[in-house]
Amino acid sequence: MDKNEVISGIKSKIEQQFIHESSGHDWWHIYRVWKLAKKIAKSEAVDQYVVELAALLHDIADWKFNDGDDKAGGIAARALMEEYTIDEETIAKVVDIIDHVSYKGAGVHDEMKSLEGQIVQDADRLDAIGAIGIARTFAYGGFKGRPLYDPSIVPVMHHSFEAYKKNVAPTINHFYEKLLLLKDRMNTKTGKKIASQRHEFMLSYLKQFFDEWDSEPQKT
Ligand code: ADP
Ligand code: NI
Repeated sequence: MDKNEVISGIKSKIEQQFIHESSGHDWWHIYRVWKLAKKIAKSEAVDQYVVELAALLHDIADWKFNDGDDKAGGIAARALMEEYTIDEETIAKVVDIIDHVSYKGAGVHDEMKSLEGQIVQDADRLDAIGAIGIARTFAYGGFKGRPLYDPSIVPVMHHSFEAYKKNVAPTINHFYEKLLLLKDRMNTKTGKKIASQRHEFMLSYLKQFFDEWDSEPQKT
């Protein structure tokens, strides 16, 4: 099987698996991350195959849906890549990216070493901000049965992944605990540029939200 056939086989598998997902981590999220990662990769000297595989497989078994197990994604991705007899060097690179792609809290450092991984992380994070990011965030909050906003519960800057995982705060808090922090955590020049426009849009959205609520924007 050549590389194009592998990508299109894995794409179909993931599409089938995620088409009915309803927490904002559905097939179309993966599709957007895949497209955007390819676009960012164009202006960087990287292994395009690794970028595409990691983008398609990055949410295959997210910790949020696997009892907090942050190794489940890498394991599931490896199993699928082995079915396609992908070479070990590529598999190891992709698994390493999937193991490190997630946001783990405001006070927890990102440890993405490869440029391929940094590109996939930027694409994933860009889909968490802006108009689509806002939609996904409320979809996730609804999926989890969270209130939109509760003025008595203030956002928290989590200093460990464990604390971040346990969080059950209202959805608006997620903007302060993650989404508004992403623009300063972009890895690539293209990522930074797109993030800054999407960030401004979220700020104006929040201003309108709090105007309508007749309340002050939250402070951390
Ligand atoms: P990452 O890709 O960095 O691991 P996640 O998969 O945790 O990010 O989150 C992806 C998206 O899911 C978020 O950007 C947000 O839209 C939604 N989400 C995740 N956690 C929460 C939360 N606690 N409250 C609201 N939305 C959330
Ligand atoms: Ni994702």
